[in-house]
Amino acid sequence: MGIYQIAIDGPSGSGKSTLAKGIAKELGIMYLDTGAMYRTCAVASIRKGVDPKDAEAVKKMMDEVKIEVKFVDGVQHMILDGEDVTGDLRTPQTSIAASDISALPFVRTAMVSLQREIAKNQTFVLDGRDIASVVLPDAKYKFFVVCAPEVRAERRLAELQAAGDNSQTFEEVLRDINYRDEQDSKRAASPLIQVPEAVVIDTGKYDIEGTRAFLLSHLDEEDK
Ligand code: DC
Repeated sequence: MGIYQIAIDGPSGSGKSTLAKGIAKELGIMYLDTGAMYRTCAVASIRKGVDPKDAEAVKKMMDEVKIEVKFVDGVQHMILDGEDVTGDLRTPQTSIAASDISALPFVRTAMVSLQREIAKNQTFVLDGRDIASVVLPDAKYKFFVVCAPEVRAERRLAELQAAGDNSQTFEEVLRDINYRDEQDSKRAASPLIQVPEAVVIDTGKYDIEGTRAFLLSHLDEEDK
């Protein structure tokens, strides 16, 4: 079995990370969550009081901070200036700041080169917005995940509540999802795009297992 990559792109909360994680486990391959990398840049900006839309200030900050990806027992950890910030990546404030900061081209250049470096010598499944279009245009497998915004908002709300966060209503979660969809797909630098050769997966149509089985059915026998 040779080295290959599976690219999974799609909008916020579409279920791509659940799918990617499940696939990694099933196939015994590595998983890289590229959104976590932009979220780490966002955490850096929040901690340093830098406006994630202020290109000048973010550029200076990016030159000063050190962002690393570490895998501990196969699980991804995000390290910011030596501190493990993995537990701080999923707040609503970080989500919005990540969407803002990821629109800046120099932030993307830095993260994309790190992503290519990580994925080049091992079989990986990666999820994000620009994996098939920019990060790994030669990936062997490319998938594009879709799901209605209301279904995504419902799932995201359940996730927040399960984590003990009752700070947001359904309408607020939906508003944030629409904000990020709009921004992630309309920005000039590597917007969320569906490459023509990608296989579309509608996660609203299947349960988690069904989605995983659908993706697996598109892999060559030698890669399963
Ligand atoms: O997948 P996520 O919600 O954790 O991503 C957080 C933000 O980072 C999201 O608003 C879009 C951005 N992102 C990106 O621009 N490119 C990627 N490859 C992954 C995420």
